[in-house]
Amino acid sequence: MIRVRVFASPEALARALANDIARSLRERRHLVLGLPTGRTPIPLYRELVRLHAAGGADFSGAATFNLDEFLGLAPSDPRSYRTFMARHLFDAVNLSPRRIHFLNGAAADPRAECARYERAIARAGGIDLQILGLGRNGHIGFNEPGRSLAADSHRVRLTTTTRRANASLFENRTRDVPAEALSMGIGTILRSRRIILVATGAGKGRAVVRTVCGTLTTRWPASFLQVHANVEAWLDRAAASRLSAAL
Ligand code: GLP
Repeated sequence: MIRVRVFASPEALARALANDIARSLRERRHLVLGLPTGRTPIPLYRELVRLHAAGGADFSGAATFNLDEFLGLAPSDPRSYRTFMARHLFDAVNLSPRRIHFLNGAAADPRAECARYERAIARAGGIDLQILGLGRNGHIGFNEPGRSLAADSHRVRLTTTTRRANASLFENRTRDVPAEALSMGIGTILRSRRIILVATGAGKGRAVVRTVCGTLTTRWPASFLQVHANVEAWLDRAAASRLSAAL
């Protein structure tokens, strides 16, 4: 069952989540964090940077694993998720560069790259806390709806909806968004010890209902979160607005 927490605003949610992460870092210096990209986590990263500057969040022992990356983009590409993370978080906190982990979209052998990533997560002791965003089509990471889902990190073809949703990184040109990506699998995500799914804004209302109350189906990858023993959905009022009617 997904436990739901509702906050007055995206900013209140971001503050509470940044404090939760800072507390986890104090309790466990070598915390392993799974991180998302997208618009949703930007206020969270802003809060973490602010907390770090104020001496309230120490990342010196932590490791991070991001969920996904576009295929064909080098880490240094200005449009890569790796660059997005550098801009919003990595460059402004005291994470050790060798403990920042990413799927390399420019790897010569994508399959080997995915296997390497799974090994690196296992070697780090698994993910302690996985933060997730939610695609409007029910995707988490880049696990797109379909007839089947991959358990482990894998190469994936992106839907037009998802490419459109990511167009802002590509000067709003959907055709420039890579057609494929590398992503953690549903199993990679579900092996995390704790999962927090974040959704804000009325546009995510329907997606939240299907995720929290819907039947489990590969047509809605986020529905599989319901089987996890320690999973929460953190929502602002707008994203939660359709939930009370559904529950
Ligand atoms: C992208 C990412 C997902 C993210 C989703 C939602 O497709 N691969 O990990 O959750 O966008 O984005 P937003 O938060 O901008 O709605």
